Amino acid sequence: MPGPMATAVLRVDPVHPELAVVARAAAVLWAGGLVAFPTETVYGLGANGLSGKAVAGIFAAKGRPSSNPIILHAPSMASARALAGSWNDWAERLAARFWPGPLTLVVERSAAIPDVVTAGGPTVALRVPSHPVALALLAAVDFPLAAPSANRSTRLSPTQAEHVLAGLDGRIGLILDGGPTPGGIESTVLDVAGDRPRLLRPGLLSVREIEAVVGPVERGKSSEGVARSPGLQECHYAPVRPLELAPAASVGECLQACRGRGERVAWLSFGVAATDLERLAAVTLALATTPGSYAAELFSALHVADAAAVDRIVVTLPPTGDDWLGIHDRLARAAHRAQG
Ligand code: TXA
Ligand code: MG
Repeated sequence: MPGPMATAVLRVDPVHPELAVVARAAAVLWAGGLVAFPTETVYGLGANGLSGKAVAGIFAAKGRPSSNPIILHAPSMASARALAGSWNDWAERLAARFWPGPLTLVVERSAAIPDVVTAGGPTVALRVPSHPVALALLAAVDFPLAAPSANRSTRLSPTQAEHVLAGLDGRIGLILDGGPTPGGIESTVLDVAGDRPRLLRPGLLSVREIEAVVGPVERGKSSEGVARSPGLQECHYAPVRPLELAPAASVGECLQACRGRGERVAWLSFGVAATDLERLAAVTLALATTPGSYAAELFSALHVADAAAVDRIVVTLPPTGDDWLGIHDRLARAAHRAQG
């Protein structure tokens, strides 16, 4: 149900954003309001990152717990660096190599950043996005944009303006509709504030590419990692319907079992589906078989499956390996059901 605010949706050219459209969005941000905009990963929900009041609006619109800090987006490496309390060699090399792009660096914060952005912590997450609309918006204001993914807390991330509208209609001022986001899953979050670089969230930039620049990166969900990045909590990116992950070798048995229970299934197959299996599903969505294309399609397919008249979503597990890490992470979370 829409909230009390009228949410405007403006089309914007994703390659050459129209200045007049960007100016309208900037005006909403200057006034302390919220604007959803496309990035190269997913849609972000932006607010003035130096205004505690504006950022508090993000938490309210998303229903996000105040313990979960938010990424600050900056138009350049120099402006991002100005938000850091200190900037080490890892940060310098990674930023120089991967910005603008889908890498978020967690560094020591500067005192200028409101507590609400960092959830009161000593670090801040920074990123320079590469999407022309995000960069045009950042150029039109003189503050960084605090921007989480533009979904209600714990729900599927939005890769289309329609997904944003479905979750946040009436709760935010404006959506810039620049079409589907090319990346499809969120940025990789890397903590470079500690004694070793640590992967906090696998994402669009593969850890293999990061290790080529800074050497071995700490991985795995240590309890410290979760404490440092509350967004790592397991129940996240969840569709409304139950979701089951099935290894490629046994997806047929899984679909048969669903049929045996009288369940209607939406199936996300890995590549073109075998016709005998496709007959067992009410809806079949064939995902691409390369990591980049799979990521680009994943959330859109989950949104479609979740909106279908089915009892369950079944996903064939893609291959393992570094290039699929971010995808496996999103799938595992989508399958995780909150207890109770
Ligand atoms: O691709 C992306 O990163 C998108 C686009 C809009 O830029 N943004 C995004 O934001 O995914 P969000 O809030 O949905 O996820 C940010 C993640 C969360 O897991 C959060 O806990 C973590 O980054 N994070 C933010 N600030 C942090 C900090 N200071 N220390 C550790 N983790 C932090
Ligand atoms: Mg998110």
